[in-house]
Amino acid sequence: MNITIVSTTSRNGSKTLELSHFVQSLFLKKGIEAKVLDLKDLPEDFFTSVLYRSPKSDSFRGIQELVTATDKFLFIIPEYNCSFPGILKSFVDALEFPKSFRGKKGGMIGLSDGTQGATVAMSHFSDILNYLGVIVVSSRPRLINIGQHFYDGTMHQEIYTQHIERTLDELIAL
Ligand SMILES: Cc1cc2nc3c(=O)[nH]c(=O)nc-3n(C[C@H](O)[C@H](O)[C@H](O)COP(=O)(O)O)c2cc1C
Repeated sequence: MNITIVSTTSRNGSKTLELSHFVQSLFLKKGIEAKVLDLKDLPEDFFTSVLYRSPKSDSFRGIQELVTATDKFLFIIPEYNCSFPGILKSFVDALEFPKSFRGKKGGMIGLSDGTQGATVAMSHFSDILNYLGVIVVSSRPRLINIGQHFYDGTMHQEIYTQHIERTLDELIAL
């Protein structure tokens, strides 16, 4: 079972990437070596030589291969202007269709500084996953006021860890 955690922003110093590594450590405790795909690692020529280009530049090949080899995705989604980051949509648009996602499994965890926990963002992205043919787990943690509860790579809110664990268990079992 190949699981990839997608850190869905390219912002430097993002909580999303920090949380992605925390989630990776929870998978490891369950004996699963999940990979982290950080959208900050999209190639520098992504917008000029990858997105909407055919053939794409070789710089994207490793990322496409990782996605193709993945059975289950866990998208860690920050709330940006009441939706998900635009780079996530561009990433999806750049991948091969339909083989990148069709028939695969997925889950989402949302986080925000404010009090929505990326609720609407995950709802928006679930429409896209549905279109792509990804079967999504029902558990969808909404981690509000993230800066108060998660810092220095450590979760200080036990209920958040429990919600995340439930999502991991559902995704593993799916
Ligand atoms: C472009 C941008 C838009 C944002 N919009 C919202 C928002 O609509 N609601 C909210 O609660 N937080 C918003 N935030 C704050 C993020 O939720 C906060 O930075 C959180 O730590 C998760 O994002 P991060 O992974 O970039 O750190 C925004 C942040 C950025 C960079």
